[in-house]
Amino acid sequence: MSESDVQEGHRFPAPEQLAAQANVGADVYAEAERDRLAFWESAARRLSWAQEWDQVLDWSNPPFAKWFVGGKLNIAYNCVDRHVEDGHGEQVAYHWEGEPGDTRTITYAQLKDEVCKAANALLELGVQAGDRVAVYMPMIPEAVVAMLACARIGAVHMVVFGGFSSDALASRITDSGAVVVVTSDGGYRRGAPSALKPAVDEAVARTDSVRNVLVVRRTEQDVEWTEGRDLWWHDVVDRQSTEHTPEAFDAEHPLYIMYTSGTTAKPKGILHTSGGYLTQVAYSHWASFDLKPDTDVFWTSADIGWVTGHSYIVYGPLANRATSIMYEGTPETPHRGRWFEIIEKYGVTILYTAPTVIRTFMKWGEDVPAGFDLSSLRVLGSVGEPINPEAWLWYHKNIGGGRCPIVDTWWQTETGAHMINPLPGVTDLKPGSAQTPFPGISAKVVDDEGNELGDDTTGLLVLTEPWPSMLRTIWGDDDRYVDTYWSRFGTEVYFAGDGAKKDDDGDIWLLGRVDDVMNVSGHRISTTEVESSLVAHPAVAEAAVVGASDPTTGQGIVAFVILRGSAEDSGDELVQTLRTHVARDIGPIAKPRQIMVVQELPKTRSGKIMRRLLRDIAENRELGDVTTLTDSSVMNLIKDKLPANSSSED
Ligand code: PRX
Repeated sequence: MSESDVQEGHRFPAPEQLAAQANVGADVYAEAERDRLAFWESAARRLSWAQEWDQVLDWSNPPFAKWFVGGKLNIAYNCVDRHVEDGHGEQVAYHWEGEPGDTRTITYAQLKDEVCKAANALLELGVQAGDRVAVYMPMIPEAVVAMLACARIGAVHMVVFGGFSSDALASRITDSGAVVVVTSDGGYRRGAPSALKPAVDEAVARTDSVRNVLVVRRTEQDVEWTEGRDLWWHDVVDRQSTEHTPEAFDAEHPLYIMYTSGTTAKPKGILHTSGGYLTQVAYSHWASFDLKPDTDVFWTSADIGWVTGHSYIVYGPLANRATSIMYEGTPETPHRGRWFEIIEKYGVTILYTAPTVIRTFMKWGEDVPAGFDLSSLRVLGSVGEPINPEAWLWYHKNIGGGRCPIVDTWWQTETGAHMINPLPGVTDLKPGSAQTPFPGISAKVVDDEGNELGDDTTGLLVLTEPWPSMLRTIWGDDDRYVDTYWSRFGTEVYFAGDGAKKDDDGDIWLLGRVDDVMNVSGHRISTTEVESSLVAHPAVAEAAVVGASDPTTGQGIVAFVILRGSAEDSGDELVQTLRTHVARDIGPIAKPRQIMVVQELPKTRSGKIMRRLLRDIAENRELGDVTTLTDSSVMNLIKDKLPANSSSED
């Protein structure tokens, strides 16, 4: 297949054999359309409830939703114990592969024992239902165990991606009020141990809620130790009983907080609750990937520190009794075929990854996957950003062997689960488009006034009905929740922040963020957050940051800075210092690809920075309309400075 097939509207029909045995058929859309709440109610019945709900949805106080009102369940019991009780204790829950090549195989029975022990340990540390527990871990099984142990006792986990800085960890600990941090000495990345504990020590020193730090030994690096506060996981967890009776919690009991970037410098603590969340992640995992628990080997390549890891490494797969892969390291360690080696070794049948990874594989060349037996694969998934048709076709041909449907899933930290995607045994696929709202989901493309658009007209994506796994609020800030998502078109319409269009067939194409949020390798980073980090550096007076398109990472961070009078423009050296400063301040993913030192920034008469023009510069385009600038010669000044002060490679 070539790009021209796509341009001519070539579609990829659902493979016949898959369609014949698919978990869901085309009728699912009509069923959900007929009675949306009854549809979600039947999805909820796939779980085990200690007490049935009285009402499916309470939307009497929008945008504050309650799903499965009155229902009670235990999330960990649903993810682990019930499979053991049903006779599947010996089934593998995770094939874990460490980056250095060490492996662990964890069955559902073993997972149950580990979760019970960790739950008992947290209780011994005085953690109670409703308390927050921070998790700052590499991709090791204890990260999953810690999350499930929290869920089991009703504590709220708050996982922070291990690549984030101590500052980012500290602000999240403070905002959430976490009482315990679960971490490890370090993890393996790019062939070497990478420390985590020092960042925890720095973060905890600047906060006052943390009583204990529970440390898993992974790399055996030396660690600083604060007596009385720090505890080894193997000392505290290993000696606990493997018995723990799960308590049933309310369907709306908080399950976790996950911080994500918004349009201001302060990340938002997205709150997810229990019954509705598990209902939708479990159902979507089963339907979107056609998951067959007895035969599939499922692999989501994300890190557990992101929502994709929460929903599709932990909760969805476990609720469905899947056998999953969990891999600690990077794709090129120790060689560029590592992922394909893992697929071959474990017979992976479903692979869920991000376009940025596919584009990296494209750069490395098709010979790499061709060297491995990938014939076990039957369904592929994509998430995090729009997948360009070229990457789609490459993925389809070189990884999927031309036979695997690609499920492009649009969703967000806030939505908790898949919202717009084709279904593998149902939909004729159209490369580059996420296509169809998930059954039971209502998505529209509207103009600035909220009028629905069609016919290839670009507008804003909105969700017009509440859904079970929706965020319930921003932790500690109901007003910001309402303002950010539910004020533009009223309290019953969710504003996603994405541009979109519907084509003539009614298929939805996602077109990237419409706000000041960048998407770098499928990760959200706010322009304001990077700007405030830059101006916090003593050399910088003013900064403007834009996301410029990047062939591998989707967008790359480009910063324009004005130096303070006293600062020396030492050229490259200063640029490197500033890039490192941001990486240290926020995390390596926020490190600007390019920093340009300029004398002025383009501003409107009201003082707003015109990022559109800066983006034109960063993307080497002709400048757009400059008539609203206070001083249009500014742009020439910036352009004159261009090659000398830029730095792009790392
Ligand atoms: O812009 C959309 C993009 O990622 C944003 C959500 O980011 P985050 O909350 O970090 O969650 C990422 C994983 C779910 C969205 O607003 N996005 C995510 N998936 C897609 C996408 N854009 C287009 N197509 C997708 N499949």
